[in-house]
Amino acid sequence: MFLPLTACNLKDNSSAESGWVSLTMATATENGETQVSYVATSAAYSAFVYSPISMSAKDSFINFELKATSPIPVRAEVVYGTGDSAETYYTNLVVGTEYSSFSVRASSVKNGQTAGVIRLYPSYNQLSGAGELFIKNLSGSDYYTSSFYSLTAVEKNSGGNNQSEDPTGGNNQSEEENDEPYVPENATYLYEKYSSYFKMGMCAGYDDYNSYSDLNGHYNSFTCENEMKLYEIGQNEGQYNFDKADQMVSWARANGKKVRGHALIWYQGAPDWIKNGSKAQVLEKIHNYCYTVVKHFKDRFGDTVYCWDVVNEAISDNGGAFRNEFYGTCGIDFIKEAFRAARDADANVKLFYNDYNMDDLTKRNAVIRMLRELINDGVPIDGVGMQGHYAISGGNNVYETNVNRVNAAITAFESLAAETNHPLEIHITELDIKNYTNDNTRLANKYRELFEVFRNHRNSITCVTTWGVTDAHSWLNGFNGNGDAYPFLFDRNHNKKPAFNAVFDF
Ligand code: XIL
Repeated sequence: MFLPLTACNLKDNSSAESGWVSLTMATATENGETQVSYVATSAAYSAFVYSPISMSAKDSFINFELKATSPIPVRAEVVYGTGDSAETYYTNLVVGTEYSSFSVRASSVKNGQTAGVIRLYPSYNQLSGAGELFIKNLSGSDYYTSSFYSLTAVEKNSGGNNQSEDPTGGNNQSEEENDEPYVPENATYLYEKYSSYFKMGMCAGYDDYNSYSDLNGHYNSFTCENEMKLYEIGQNEGQYNFDKADQMVSWARANGKKVRGHALIWYQGAPDWIKNGSKAQVLEKIHNYCYTVVKHFKDRFGDTVYCWDVVNEAISDNGGAFRNEFYGTCGIDFIKEAFRAARDADANVKLFYNDYNMDDLTKRNAVIRMLRELINDGVPIDGVGMQGHYAISGGNNVYETNVNRVNAAITAFESLAAETNHPLEIHITELDIKNYTNDNTRLANKYRELFEVFRNHRNSITCVTTWGVTDAHSWLNGFNGNGDAYPFLFDRNHNKKPAFNAVFDF
């Protein structure tokens, strides 16, 4: 049973550009605004805010951003219809103290049953004392809502409206202190399972991104394999080719995914026009290119593109020296210029340096020296991308990855952040595991070990992306004279491999 609380109007600025609604027990004030406070009582199990919605398309998502005064598990659900014909779709979230984006999938809306409500159930049994939950930027691919919100308490153990189950979605955590992240027991998708750890990302190219309707629900981050690269967007000076990237970012947004922008400045495939000229000319071209591209996606898609690999692979494997491209003309200023231009174009997008072989000590130390200089010089950098092209042994030029070294690399970046007092997010940006012997058991073990390390670093790692989805499509197939690489969680027929279970079951 739902027990209406007294005076439960909510402060609603949702019509403002960055409107927000404070979800709390509320007291209406005379001028129609609402003064809010949030109290966890033993009588109340959870509360929800709801908003009437209308959804006409299948496979739609409703997106929103949430934060709370202290981290709290929330079940977000979409309910269509009432009574016996009600259909409920839900996602278990952990809302942190900074705004982050969430989406609820409404995957198979029955015909004619398109009106419903969205409800958010914060779990009171995780709370002590007072707090607040904030929601903003409700949106969806095919969705609209009135600006009506309400708050209702749910009686402890009542289960809620037409639900026989726990409204927090099986969160059986007791009321005692528990610092362990919340892991939903009944999750279907990878990203749900990892919702209190990091985003789960998929990478795909123009030819295959649309072919994973059965699998893309596992992911809430998306990377274009090549279509946002300098050689695709900026092959010719002064001309910008956004066609493919725009299509793919639209698709990602419609499917409830944020996008990692990859990559602005990369030596590989960089066209001559941007490399040639004096230092001042090259810096100006880098500036204009980075500014224009970041601005394009911000203006067109808002915060869908949530981060950029601003500079990719500036350090060589050769003793940690800078690669000559760009550096030969500009020194480290080319990196500083690129980050500053990206920041000028978008004050909020997260800016990353991305590279591979960070588990190699020499290369990592070179990257850390470079990052330290950027940070000390006030260059706007938010994170490090560790590509994560790993391996089990077997094949030409394939060396088994030592996860202890991966762990040491992550720890080293965390130490740099502490030393410089400059927060750094870590993304694993291009995870794949060379598996040229197609050994499912060893592959699963390597994934298991790696994800244990990643979960242990959940305070710094905010996204893990695999550089492909199924074994059918990988840049590693045929790489270095090897055959197929079998590097992923799904086989060619989209079936889950043991590696999937190794990542999913923990
Ligand atoms: C690769 C793509 O997967 C290929 O399709 C393309 O031909 C070359 O680039 N490091 C990176 C990625 O940062 O952009 C690369 O992607 C793989 C290595």
